[in-house]
Amino acid sequence: MQYDPPGRFKTLEEFRARLAEIDPSFCADDEVRVGGPLAQPLPLFGKTLGNRFACHPMEGWDGDDEGRPTDLTLRRWRRFGESGAALVWGGEAYAVRRDGRANPHQLCMETDSDPARSLAQLLGALREGSAARGDAPDSQVVGLQLTHSGRFARPDGPLAPRTAFRHALLERKYPHEAGPALLSDAELEGIAEQFVAAARFAWEAGFHFVDLKACHGYLMHELLSARSRSGPYGGSLAHRARLLLQLVAAVRSECPGLGVGVRLSLTDSLPYERDEATGVGRPMALRGPYRDGFGIHAEFPHGFDPSEPVELLRMLHQAGVEAINLTLGSPYWNPHLQRPAAYPPSDGYSPPADPLAMVFRHLDAARRAKAAVPELIYVGTGYTYLQEWLGPVAQHEVGAGHVDLIGLGRMLLSYPDLPRDLLAGQTADRRRLCRTFSDCTTGPRNGMVSGCFPLDPFYRERPEAARVKALRPESRT
Ligand SMILES: Cc1cc2nc3c(=O)[nH]c(=O)nc-3n(C[C@H](O)[C@H](O)[C@H](O)COP(=O)(O)O)c2cc1C
Ligand code: SF4
Repeated sequence: MQYDPPGRFKTLEEFRARLAEIDPSFCADDEVRVGGPLAQPLPLFGKTLGNRFACHPMEGWDGDDEGRPTDLTLRRWRRFGESGAALVWGGEAYAVRRDGRANPHQLCMETDSDPARSLAQLLGALREGSAARGDAPDSQVVGLQLTHSGRFARPDGPLAPRTAFRHALLERKYPHEAGPALLSDAELEGIAEQFVAAARFAWEAGFHFVDLKACHGYLMHELLSARSRSGPYGGSLAHRARLLLQLVAAVRSECPGLGVGVRLSLTDSLPYERDEATGVGRPMALRGPYRDGFGIHAEFPHGFDPSEPVELLRMLHQAGVEAINLTLGSPYWNPHLQRPAAYPPSDGYSPPADPLAMVFRHLDAARRAKAAVPELIYVGTGYTYLQEWLGPVAQHEVGAGHVDLIGLGRMLLSYPDLPRDLLAGQTADRRRLCRTFSDCTTGPRNGMVSGCFPLDPFYRERPEAARVKALRPESRT
């Protein structure tokens, strides 16, 4: 690892000095204060959140063939319940249609003969987890993340892309024999109906909100870049955002009282590829401007262009969306940005820049969104990589009003009690801190379930653990 991971900084002063080199406004508080900013209540979706931690959606590639939860799925939801995070944002990606499943084991409404029962099981497991820790019933506000994987659909294993438009770089990176199957306007509208049907199941099961997933390269995110598409869902921003806005309106009218959130990739970068000589990631070569990304400058595609993202946030707020879970890029084409990590997954590349600088890009995106459209509630991403210093940076961002909630992904796989420990003023248990080994991504990229194989004793004992270890890139072993 050519960049010092946070755990190597022995004192807060040393760590702060590195943060300041990245950006003078990148700060960490002295310590997490009991009753401080992270413990402040926040009204959302008609309820009051008791703290400022959110659990990010984390799927496990572990549903059964019908798209129903298995014991592994329910264990993960139970642990989300144990975390004490006041907001459970989405739980995990829930495919609204078979052809939109990201893998054959993704939870799915269309393939499940009894979705109501499956969703009740997920909520039951979550509540069991929080009750086991002595939390009041219904102490967590819980949403379900609805998705169609679009270009990255793999309902039977191999890639079976359903795309909104032709994307030269991504088609080079992910070649497909039959070529991409472009979705017609009528097909898009049919998919939107399935989103609404899934929202209804979530509402009836007792979820407080749904997340209309528009991030990470999946269909609703891809549509936001469909400048080259003609017709009502391509071209201008108003057209590109039309399906998402129609969906918000439909969910609000069909499911009164159900909150609506959107997980949004606010900005992006050019797609990256591995430089075979060095193993390090590099942007794919491009001739001419890059018009196929969202929140990225066409002429200078290494820079954030906030104009359209800010306009979209305003549109979403006006449509009745209350909260945005902010993320960046995609785990497929720029994983170093989407989930900053010290070690790449088996199909990844070594980080082309200090992952701490990528963490700052997440923080900066949230700051800009909050400053531009403060009426929305924002969940930030990018905190897991901070490891020992997660609490002090998180407290600084919330205390300064830069973001409302601290979203945690991988950290909750290895150490679900971290929010509880930090809120109680305890020092984080270093043995359980996620060290961003990426094994939880390597597993599913090679057809296995996901889990924290190195640090969660339950997954360490599973047969996949040795296979995942053998697949680690050389840079890690
Ligand atoms: C194993 C795994 C599963 C994930 N599943 C989802 C998912 O279902 N939906 C989603 O929006 N993001 C998903 N993500 C992305 C995370 O929610 C989060 O954005 C990412 O891990 C960065 O946050 P972190 O640095 O706290 O881990 C997943 C990430 C991992 C590693
Ligand atoms: S496998 Fe565990 S330690 Fe590695 S990135 Fe995933 S959660 Fe973190």
